[in-house]
Amino acid sequence: DLKDNTIIVVFGASGDLAKKKTLPALFGLYRQSRLPRDCKIVGYARTKMDREEFQKRATAYINNADNNPDIANSIEAFKKSLTYVHGGYEDSESFESLNKHLEEIESHYQSKECNRIFYLALPPSVFIPVAKNAKLYCHVTKGGVNRIIIEKPFGKDLQSARELLGAVKQYWTEDETFRIDHYLGKEMVKNLLVLRFANIAMGAAWDKNSISNVQITFKEPFGTEGRGGYFDEFGIIRDVLQNHLLQVLSILTMERPVSFSAEDIRDEKVKVLRSIPPVERGETLLGQYVSANGKPGYLDDETVPPDSVCPTFAATTLWINNPRWEGVPFILKAGKALNEAKVEVRIQFKDVTQGIFKDIARNELVIRIQPSEAVYLKLNTKTPGLYTRAIPTEMDLTYKRRFTEAIIPEAYEALILDALKGDHSNFVRHDELDVAWKIFTPILHWIDGLEGPRPHPLPYPYGSRGPKEMDAYIKRHGYKRAEDS
Ligand code: BG6
Repeated sequence: DLKDNTIIVVFGASGDLAKKKTLPALFGLYRQSRLPRDCKIVGYARTKMDREEFQKRATAYINNADNNPDIANSIEAFKKSLTYVHGGYEDSESFESLNKHLEEIESHYQSKECNRIFYLALPPSVFIPVAKNAKLYCHVTKGGVNRIIIEKPFGKDLQSARELLGAVKQYWTEDETFRIDHYLGKEMVKNLLVLRFANIAMGAAWDKNSISNVQITFKEPFGTEGRGGYFDEFGIIRDVLQNHLLQVLSILTMERPVSFSAEDIRDEKVKVLRSIPPVERGETLLGQYVSANGKPGYLDDETVPPDSVCPTFAATTLWINNPRWEGVPFILKAGKALNEAKVEVRIQFKDVTQGIFKDIARNELVIRIQPSEAVYLKLNTKTPGLYTRAIPTEMDLTYKRRFTEAIIPEAYEALILDALKGDHSNFVRHDELDVAWKIFTPILHWIDGLEGPRPHPLPYPYGSRGPKEMDAYIKRHGYKRAEDS
């Protein structure tokens, strides 16, 4: 746990990720007195600007809509810990001057044991030179701790991911490396471990004998506006399914870890992922949004090639070949420009034995990751009154109502704090990434046109529920709507 004498260097400090996520999360930790004492934050980017300009930009996205004077004071105090260095990512001189700046800050620290955390909020094209230069020119060797935090995309397929990881590994050990998948910092994703392993009632029903099918869904109500250039190179599978949703799936399905240690948890995640064969074309539905209700289609985005067939929606089914899960479909689906913002896990149980009850709705356990965190169980209950008739109801644990005082931390706050503590539990291990790419690489090569003509995604209107073929798809994979019971 880093208590003091710590500098956090944010590379790509003028970019979107830093402004919208990293720096506001650092502020959040600062405000909760969770940063090491006298921690300094150094922004680094190519853009030329002075310290004051950086301080202004770095705090522009901090939410203080109500002009709370207390928050305003904290922002002013936080600004004092921010400095800025501009320079290139590939040349040694720039990193030498960054190092001088860091040494100058450290000369004011009492102890000579200083810690440096390097956060790469950068596009993948400069990952490797920055990892290398930070190590060669800015790594403190005497005492202290050095850590590097990196963000997806970690490559585009199995081979490129191996190259990227291999290159970073030449300079940074696994212990020093923290690979972020920010879904692992979300409260309800962390809650999966507790729900599963701290409740005997859940554990007993958690397998193919009780569960019919599982859906893990990601829906966003906006398109790629402004990010089309980046998105078109990656597509929705690399953007969301291969990382965020697969992480949720692995925690949902892994066996009980021996302990809560990072290695024990990740050993179990890797084991279950290794039981999943690569996803099949025939089981994959691709979509792309088109203009509707005055909203632009994907192809109307000027940063997107006019004939792009990049999917902005995808649904696919994963199968886990182990005794617990054999035969249970896990449907992963994600889309941009849909009708609502929602991320949830929906576990549908099997039908009850027919006999006394016929055509009765199935139980469903829903874990809503966002917005409005909740866990609810769809349960049949007796209609109150003189008759014995069952109706579907819900046992509802909505966080806002149940934990009225609780403040749910931002995913990035939780993860940066973990990295400061040196806890890898919620970071992606190299072998986890490798197996995740194995599952998705064949389908990605097909979509990229490396195995013949590129598949054409199904059109869906901006603001709709997705391609109209979706309902039949999930029905085919075993999902039964209550109305159909
Ligand atoms: C990012 C994706 O990793 O996750 C974005 O690149 C997506 O396309 C985002 O919008 C979603 O994150 P959250 O926390 O808003 O669900």
